[in-house]
Amino acid sequence: MRVHGQPYRTIFVADDGRTVAVIDQTRLPFAFELRHLQASEEAAEAIRDMIVRGAPLIGVTAAYGVALGMRGDPTDAGLARVVDVLGATRPTAVNLKWALERMRGALSVEPPSRRVERAYDEAARIADEDVAACAAIGRHGRALFAAIHERRGGKAVRVLTHCNAGWLACVDWGTALAPVYAAHESGIPVHVYVDETRPRNQGAALTAFELGAHGIPHTVIADNAGGHLMQHGEVDICIVGSDRTTATGDVANKIGTYLKALAAHDNGVPFYAALPSSTIDWTIEDGVTDVPIEERSAREVTHVRGRAEDGRLLDVEVVAPGSAVANPAFDVTPARLVTGIITERGVAAASRAGLLALYPERAGG
Ligand code: MRU
Repeated sequence: MRVHGQPYRTIFVADDGRTVAVIDQTRLPFAFELRHLQASEEAAEAIRDMIVRGAPLIGVTAAYGVALGMRGDPTDAGLARVVDVLGATRPTAVNLKWALERMRGALSVEPPSRRVERAYDEAARIADEDVAACAAIGRHGRALFAAIHERRGGKAVRVLTHCNAGWLACVDWGTALAPVYAAHESGIPVHVYVDETRPRNQGAALTAFELGAHGIPHTVIADNAGGHLMQHGEVDICIVGSDRTTATGDVANKIGTYLKALAAHDNGVPFYAALPSSTIDWTIEDGVTDVPIEERSAREVTHVRGRAEDGRLLDVEVVAPGSAVANPAFDVTPARLVTGIITERGVAAASRAGLLALYPERAGG
């Protein structure tokens, strides 16, 4: 996607052929800065500190982190260590584990002397596949928008989204926002309601930034406003991303997603999750009991980051000092509240049968 007129991916290998460049998402929307990762520890830190974030991008960053690690120690012990360190960064997005297992599989059959080159190749392949998957999600989702557009007699399709599941969360295009970009590019007018997404405000900071950069009409709303808008017929479709989706179609995503799904259900608004198959955890059935939910720092709730009038980025305290604070970062929306799952292979019913109809090769588990 374009930033200041220049095409970018969220992650790429720099001109020296080894450094991995990422967009520092902790500085957006007020500054667009690249970070250059030189070692696997820096890749792990970038994931842990949310310099990069979003399930697909976490996976690709981990893959490049393995490549950086192979430069220092391409032995079996080095590979095991780097996979462990990167795997321990964030627990919920299954794309992390998926990418690390794929890297381990590709590298363990190579002699150490060939591992650096193979690791960069495999990471690039994972990145390219993510771009292709997101583009396909965009095409499949666009068809849903076209039907709503027609039903509304040519008026704009009003979408509500939560968190950031746009190109910044992936390598390009995004998952939940890919259909928005695809519809916009094909001339279907779209208006996006963007949940601010406390505590880290990925909606207000990141989704609004990327939609704005593409000229897509949008309105940022407080997290609590979605139900009200749905009650008043202001939302035609909800689309969110996912960090882990079970084999039965339960969708784990940023905290607050479940409440949006409940409101959508109560108001007859279709609720879709958009995700590449690397986000499906075929080994689990019950999202509520089986998805590990990341508990993040209390400071993300007690403080809010923003730009002061003098331009400095500041953290300001908003909670009464001494109050106990909890910060679960994700929740699970049960499949019964999900109208459909938009994948790179098409739109599936949120059920085991629905997912297996698109991914029959997974029938064995
Ligand atoms: O904690 P984050 O910012 O990594 O959480 C991201 C989300 O919940 C996204 O909506 C999700 O990863 C979908 S990614 C396209």
